[in-house]
Amino acid sequence: MNPTSQQISAQARIASMPSAAAVFVGFAVLLILGTAACGGPEREIRKTLSEGEREVFDRGQRLSTPCWSCHDLYGEQNKVGPYLAGLYGRAAGSAQYPGYSKAIQESGVIWDEGTLRSFLVDPGGFIPGTTMAASGPRGGSDVRALVFYLKHVTSNTVARQN
Ligand code: HEC
Repeated sequence: MNPTSQQISAQARIASMPSAAAVFVGFAVLLILGTAACGGPEREIRKTLSEGEREVFDRGQRLSTPCWSCHDLYGEQNKVGPYLAGLYGRAAGSAQYPGYSKAIQESGVIWDEGTLRSFLVDPGGFIPGTTMAASGPRGGSDVRALVFYLKHVTSNTVARQN
């Protein structure tokens, strides 16, 4: 018996399904690879943390979202603001970034937990004359989480480069 045209078109549809599935799988793989690449050093850092610390770290990561538009946290790319790789433990205004204000370069500040918290809550209050207008989270535990995240991510970058 010869197949009707309806049967033929049904077969054609079925025959085209594997390729649709392949496209879907391709997208899924790209998505996973992309997510892994964006994870940067974070995956490795998270492994070294306790469960409680991981929660703080993840919260800090979420709070860092607005910072990315002006700062590179892992690499050494300058954006509107200086890259923050290697930030933790170094002097304020000491990255290879041509746009620093005199105020931040002459502040004498060393970035640690205390100075980062004070700066992020109120940049201009802590370093009068800084050109960083954006401020971080206001709430105490949010600032602590953000600084916890920055501390791990930016000191880890130094470790990787040395
Ligand atoms: C609108 C752009 C912008 C945003 C958003 C921003 N910053 Fe900045 N940031 C700057 C600029 C510009 C400077 C340089 C300030 C200066 O020279 O006085 C700076 C400087 C800094 C410094 C000092 C760096 C150094 O090398 O001493 C830190 C730390 C910092 N920002 C952290 C953050 C964090 C964390 C966030 C997110 C909560 C953030 N910034 C959001 C523009 C921004």
